[in-house]
Amino acid sequence: MSSPDLTDTDRQAVLEVLNTPSLSMGPRIQEFEQAFCDFSGRKHAIGVNSGTAGLHLCVRAAGIEPGDYVITTPFSFVASANVLLFENAVPIFVDVDPRTGNINPELIADAAKNIKEYLPRRMPPVTRHTPHASLKAILPVDVFGQPADLDPIRKVAQEYGLKIIEDSCEALGAEYKGRKAGTLGDYGVYAFYPNKQITTGEGGVIITDDDQAADFMRALRNQGRAVGDTWLQHTYLGYNYRLDEMSAALGTAQMARLDEVLKKREQVAAWYTERLAEVPEVETQAVEPFTTRMSWFVYVARFDKSVDRDGLANALEARGVPVRPYFAPIHLQPYMVERFGYRPGDFPVAENLGSRGLALPFSGVMSESQVEQVCQTLRAVLRGE
Ligand SMILES: Cc1ncc(COP(=O)(O)O)c(C=O)c1O
Repeated sequence: MSSPDLTDTDRQAVLEVLNTPSLSMGPRIQEFEQAFCDFSGRKHAIGVNSGTAGLHLCVRAAGIEPGDYVITTPFSFVASANVLLFENAVPIFVDVDPRTGNINPELIADAAKNIKEYLPRRMPPVTRHTPHASLKAILPVDVFGQPADLDPIRKVAQEYGLKIIEDSCEALGAEYKGRKAGTLGDYGVYAFYPNKQITTGEGGVIITDDDQAADFMRALRNQGRAVGDTWLQHTYLGYNYRLDEMSAALGTAQMARLDEVLKKREQVAAWYTERLAEVPEVETQAVEPFTTRMSWFVYVARFDKSVDRDGLANALEARGVPVRPYFAPIHLQPYMVERFGYRPGDFPVAENLGSRGLALPFSGVMSESQVEQVCQTLRAVLRGE
């Protein structure tokens, strides 16, 4: 499905760490974090060992407590909602834009105004014990590498005094009206699993301008050790969310090539779009005018209702073209149904997009002939050949 874009310089950066005694909490994590401060213009960057860990720390820093509400999207990778469940908070899902798959800002405004109407059908037992629980934050996701429409979201946040946690795990390098995805809320998070634009193997980073939150998140990632604590002093309940030195070194080397990596991915996406534009059953990714740069994370083709999407996926797999239905909406995952009582039809736009999309093989190291091969196979299967 995807392939990391690695050079000998990247590999060398990792090997060099192995010749030093510092494999964790050494100079490489500091260089890595500095690279993200330079890139984003934010005061603080905090390296962590996954995007999920980063989002979880933001949830803690935003003061989200058991029973609190956070408005977010059902059309995302599960981690963006799971981090709320880790703290026994209640995700308030609102539906998404049918073109981009990003959260619909008008629905966010309506949910902030009429929160009771947006509560899940079934509330988890914890809410009975949290009478002061309230709406605390909005967690938009920059889906597939396209920024959510953040200006109207910021307006709602301002009006209701809410924090914004921007999940930019899929959107490193994307831009919204010339501003970098990840810098549009109080906290932004990027992720570096090997299918991402740049990789550290596993890893993520949080960026923020909030000094106090940054100190708190640094402490939490390191077993709750606050500034001044010794190795066995733990001011807070924390986690081991540290990013090791090999991963950090790889990340810094990869960041130095970010623009080149993004350009290669743009080219591969353009090859797909060019070819798929001629296939009547396929709708290609819509890119909004406010998206001044798309950071292609995946290439998702959407098929019209006449196409048996799952049958098509199986036929492609059988011919050696790996594809994935993308995304399966979060609210219909079994544990979400069990906890909150969601049903099919609750978020029709997200469900519709989820039922029609297939992520095609995609990476910056694909050649034009490989894209051609995927598209030829796709056209042949659609023609019933
Ligand atoms: C939207 C979104 N949020 C969060 C994550 C979690 O990142 P990680 O896999 O690094 O924990 C991902 C990763 O795929 C993602 O796509």
